[in-house]
Formats: sequence, structure tokens, C-alpha cells
Amino acid sequence: MKDDLGGKSGFFGKPGSFGLSGSMKSNEWTTPTDVFDKLNKAYDFTLDPCCTKESALCEKFYTIEEDGLQQDWSKDVVFMNPPYGRGINKWIEKAYLESRMGAVVVCLIPARVDTRYWHDYIFPYARQITFLKGRLKFGGGGNAPFPSAIVEFKPHSRKQLWNEVKI
Ligand SMILES: C[S@@+](CC[C@H](N)C(=O)[O-])C[C@H]1O[C@@H](n2cnc3c(N)ncnc32)[C@H](O)[C@@H]1O
Repeated sequence: MKDDLGGKSGFFGKPGSFGLSGSMKSNEWTTPTDVFDKLNKAYDFTLDPCCTKESALCEKFYTIEEDGLQQDWSKDVVFMNPPYGRGINKWIEKAYLESRMGAVVVCLIPARVDTRYWHDYIFPYARQITFLKGRLKFGGGGNAPFPSAIVEFKPHSRKQLWNEVKI
């Protein structure tokens, strides 16, 4: 499968500033254990849709071989820390679409609030957005060079409910 970076560099789009190998590595950055544990206590996640066999956080998981983007998440409570390359928008769209089909999806993502995917899917449809104080230290990486947010999509998120109200 083609990588999420489309053969280019990741976060900032400028080869060398973060570096191809840096962004490729960042695709593999794992969730800090304390962050996952706190969220898992509240949600009891059933699916990690993007991981390796080694980094899977739930018993049910999909790696790049199964391609989590092509799978059905609708019966699951999903924890999603997606690959942070250029294809991250596809993961956010998938999280939103699966929440409409019944999934609860909690995403740990960069708080890049100027991006199209934040404006198209998160601001209008997320049930809850939490901006984290400071910078996370991901497993396999250093301190993140970006702020992070936790975004929750649930069936019947704000906009859907509002759209159902006929006045
Ligand atoms: C940021 S890491 C998160 C790993 C782990 N879920 C965690 O939170 O610690 C993103 C993972 O997604 C995997 N990945 C990339 N493309 C994928 C795809 N199409 N389907 C499933 N997993 C994929 C990468 O190999 C990487 O392990």
C-alpha cells in the first residue's frame, strides 16, 4: 500500500524541516500510556484501527495489512491515534462516518485547527474536543512539535441532532 505521505514529507510539507525519515517515524509514534489508560478507563475501547501488532492497544486491531480505513468500525468503541502524515484527513473522515454508523470514536490528533479536516469534520460534528496542555511525549518519538487534542465522535453528534430539530 502507498504510504500516507504520498512520497513527500509529513507535518509541515517541507522536506528537511522535519524530514522524511522524521515524519515516517512519526507515523509510528505510539500513544503515551498514561493518556491511553485514563481514556480507556472512561471508554473501555474495543478497537484500535491503526497500529502494528506490537503497538496494538486493543485486542481487536487493524494494521496496514488489513487497512483499517477499509474496515467496519460501526459496532466498536474506537481509540484512534492515526498516522500523522498527509493522509490524516482520511482517518478523520472515516472516524466521522463510522460514528454516523454507530461507532464511538475517540481520536488523539494534532491540534492543527487551521486544517480543512478540522473545519469539515471536527468543528461541525465532534461531540467533544479537549485541547491538551503542553506537548505530549509519544512513545518512539520525542516531545511532539505540535499541540494535541482529543476529539470524540459519537452517533448523533451536535450537528446531526440540531439538523433533526424541525422548527
Ligand atoms: C501513530 S501510530 C499509533 C499506534 C497505536 N495505535 C498507538 O496509538 O500507540 C499509527 C499506526 O497506524 C499504522 N497504519 C498506517 N496506515 C494504516 C492503515 N491503512 N491501516 C491500519 N494501520 C495503519 C502505522 O503503521 C502506525 O503503527
